[in-house]
Amino acid sequence: MIAVLDFGGQYTHLIARRLRDLHVPVRLFAHDVPAAEIAGVQGIVFSGGPSSVYASNAPRPDSKVFDLGIPILGLCYGHQFIANHFGGKVERATREYGERELDVVKAEGVLDGLHPKEKVWYSHGDSVLVLPSGFEVLAKSGDSIAAYAKGSIYGLQFHPEVHHTPCGNAVLQNFAFTICKAKKTPGTFSKDALIAEMRQRVGSQNVVIGVSGGVDSTVAAFLLRQAVGKKLFPIYVDTGLMRKNETREIQEFFNDFDHFVFVDASKEFLYALKGVSDPEKKRKIIGHLFVETFEKAAQSVPDVGYLAQGTIFSDRVESAAAGGKATSKIKSHHNLTLPEKMKWKVLEPLAELYKDEVRQLGKQLGVPEAILKRHPFPGPGLAINVVGEVTPDKLHAVREADYIFIDELRKAGWYDRMFEAFAAILPVRTVGVKGDERSYEYPIVLRAVESKDVMTADWVRLPPELLQKVASRILGEVEGVNRVFYDISQKPPATIRYE
Ligand code: XMP
Repeated sequence: MIAVLDFGGQYTHLIARRLRDLHVPVRLFAHDVPAAEIAGVQGIVFSGGPSSVYASNAPRPDSKVFDLGIPILGLCYGHQFIANHFGGKVERATREYGERELDVVKAEGVLDGLHPKEKVWYSHGDSVLVLPSGFEVLAKSGDSIAAYAKGSIYGLQFHPEVHHTPCGNAVLQNFAFTICKAKKTPGTFSKDALIAEMRQRVGSQNVVIGVSGGVDSTVAAFLLRQAVGKKLFPIYVDTGLMRKNETREIQEFFNDFDHFVFVDASKEFLYALKGVSDPEKKRKIIGHLFVETFEKAAQSVPDVGYLAQGTIFSDRVESAAAGGKATSKIKSHHNLTLPEKMKWKVLEPLAELYKDEVRQLGKQLGVPEAILKRHPFPGPGLAINVVGEVTPDKLHAVREADYIFIDELRKAGWYDRMFEAFAAILPVRTVGVKGDERSYEYPIVLRAVESKDVMTADWVRLPPELLQKVASRILGEVEGVNRVFYDISQKPPATIRYE
């Protein structure tokens, strides 16, 4: 197994994904995981990260990892950290972003089989200018050292994990199989094996699972229904922050299960959010109230032994980064996870799967297409589509506008061709004219994005006629709104969602 240590880089989860795709068993750890905890792995990767090795709060691994005698591959920040740690010289250089040419000096070790010149992807500010003694240069890019080796320790300034580095797979394969001697896993999931494993683990006690109507929790619930049948109790908490008609649809859907616990907490949520406009506070209030409500609901279920969650592989990376380990916190992507103090054992049947695999599994389990193709919808719901304070009027306006937008995208055949789309409402009023009167109302923003991995996103080039239709409907049908914008920002520097 290869351990990937997360130094807060945007591409950390891609390293794991790449290795997984090469059938290498891999697990992610916080950058400061105690060396003893990973002493049994075959290889260690230090991810990239936004810090400079000279920053006072620069993230550091447990220095004992270097004594384990396990091969290490440092990428970007990891590369700089290792060089600096052993006495080399790292300096702030011109920021390089994008495609660069790599001059391979020695096609050995991780660079085995590479051509003298290769195209690679860079994203860094610091560079390694002088190597510690005993280290040898494997590749250069301009003046900076792009790859080095010392025994089984390697560093690469570029990112082999991104698609834009065509030789990336060869590099990772060299590291995993030749240097670390990792054993290939079959790499594909088996529905029957997952069902059998869950059935065996659960035994005789009951299982509760929070469902939201989203892909992950629905697929997890379907899997568990097959595994434990009547012992499964899906719980749905209506936060009042769901999209139009969603709660009714979820109720109808889960009524087919042997048990279904439905809790209407919409009033409590709105009340708790009153007067709060800070985005992180909003998320925290929702998270805590959700846990409280869920816990209460679960107490009505007899003999609960397990709490199941639809956590998937990439959630674990994002949560690791949001758990305070990342040095550059972008946004807390916390799903509504339940606190550790809970007495139930946690079941995460999808924890090893990526989104596309979850969809495949859902298909095999008979989960309806409409659910499997749903766009992502954040746990805090429409509360983060209302920028600033969530008031009943704004919530209503954004819910209606969002419904109209999605409805028109579906009718025009665009919905399935993008990653995610939604409407948001901004907390600033502007002047308009309605009938013979001046209006002073809020704007709606429409956002539709393409994204492969949520870390980067581009706006969808929707036809002007379609945007016009959506805007006319929103302005005609939604109260309190007098302008419609279309967001053409890319991520980065923007994010996908508003808060
Ligand atoms: P951002 O806005 O950071 O979003 O570009 C990236 C992806 O994450 C989703 N998102 C969330 N999902 N809980 C979630 O379950 C959250 O609090 C949350 N915030 C953003 C967003 O919809 C996009 O797919």
